[in-house]
Amino acid sequence: MDILLDTKTTKRGGSKATVVPVSAVVSDDLAKLLRGLPKPDAKWARANGFEARQGQTLLVPDATGGLGRVLFGLGARDDVATGDPFLPGQLSTDLPEGTYAFDEGLPSPRLAALGWALNAYRFTRYKASKAKRARLHVPAGVDRGELDRISAGACLARDLINTPAEDMGPAELEAAVRTLARDHKARVKVIKGEALLDKNFPMIHTVGRASDRAPRLIDMVWGPARAPKVTLVGKGVCFDTGGLNLKPGSSMALMKKDMGGAANVLGLASMIMAARLPLRLRVLIPAVDNNVSANAFRPSDVLQSRNGMTVEIGNTDAEGRLVLADALTLADEERPDLIIDMATLTGAARVALGPDLPPFYTDNEDLAAHILSHADAESDPVWRMPLWPRYDGWLDSRIADVNHISEGGFAGSVTAALFLKRFVSRATAYAHFDIFGWTPVARPGRTHGGADQAIRGLFAALSDRYGK
Ligand code: BES
Ligand code: MN
Ligand code: ZN
Repeated sequence: MDILLDTKTTKRGGSKATVVPVSAVVSDDLAKLLRGLPKPDAKWARANGFEARQGQTLLVPDATGGLGRVLFGLGARDDVATGDPFLPGQLSTDLPEGTYAFDEGLPSPRLAALGWALNAYRFTRYKASKAKRARLHVPAGVDRGELDRISAGACLARDLINTPAEDMGPAELEAAVRTLARDHKARVKVIKGEALLDKNFPMIHTVGRASDRAPRLIDMVWGPARAPKVTLVGKGVCFDTGGLNLKPGSSMALMKKDMGGAANVLGLASMIMAARLPLRLRVLIPAVDNNVSANAFRPSDVLQSRNGMTVEIGNTDAEGRLVLADALTLADEERPDLIIDMATLTGAARVALGPDLPPFYTDNEDLAAHILSHADAESDPVWRMPLWPRYDGWLDSRIADVNHISEGGFAGSVTAALFLKRFVSRATAYAHFDIFGWTPVARPGRTHGGADQAIRGLFAALSDRYGK
């Protein structure tokens, strides 16, 4: 992955390895820019109707017929402020193979370069030919190492989600964690199959027992024991058929992405470990298939949970909150400084906010503000939703301590979050992200398919919170 290059590697204007300059320009400044260009270049721009419209790209030849420069439109100045800072990143796939460098004038050189790298991502595991990419010299003052760490984490999340369930079952997800752990000297423990019952993770076992691919709890720990404890919990449902409450085909089609929470916390863990943030990181992933078989759990069953509460099952398709509950209980037991969970938990989240804007939930005002400001700065948007206390009673059960879903289906993402919250009481702070994990329509820096969501913003927030 050498999409981004250090400016030192090749000299600008050097003779052999030519670096093609890219001038990003707001339309208000176009006339000024053209006046500063060599006459033939300006003439070419006018002849081709280049107006610096948002995303408009013009290749300008040099005197020998080679590629001399690129002009890239940012639109009107007023639009730039509200526009997508990743927009110039689309050039990484729009431009011919070669090496490029942005001139001055970008609103955010760092996000443009990051967008360049993220836009170049392709899922090539099953493709014979791997497309070549345009490379970028990182702009002056931008930390290439940091961008590499961020894009590696984001692309890891995308790869894990994009891999079909046949090749990304609980065992393969475990293998992915072990690979990541090996790279960063983290320790991994796995509790698998019947051992889940002995070690008291009954709901992870019950949800996963109908698959011939054994359910497991993956537990990765990294960093010094004395450092502040941050625990990430990711929903790892490798395929969600819905169980006996079987999903219709159209709803099942995308369910290889139901380990998107696990994929995203692993992407975030990768960033944290590569940056060596001074914290004690723990990643917990309940990895299961929600499958149909003679031994599948049923609607109306009452499950025992790790923390002792009994849980009445209203619908076997609300499986994610069950496996998360046992993992959250374990996370909570060591009273960490912070627990963050990420899960493709509800269709209701997507109905409320669409695929691009994940809701998150926390009772901690400082944490919420901190997450929001960094998410905004990183152009990795999230939206806070309420843990509305008055809906908590909707989870009351006639025969058990709690219902895992409420009747009627109102506020489905909120009630799912309220259910999870019941399993966290000792951590200093807790936030839950109900992500979609998928990009249905590609945008600059966001390729179609598996999606990293919220983890770039969270990485910035954690880097800030734990001082580095
Ligand atoms: N994995 C799904 C949620 C999901 C569906 C996320 C589509 C993204 C896109 C989850 O396990 C599920 O099926 N939830 C049910 C809960 C319901 C039965 C209370 C849902 O949202 O329909
Ligand atoms: Mn489900
Ligand atoms: Zn699910």
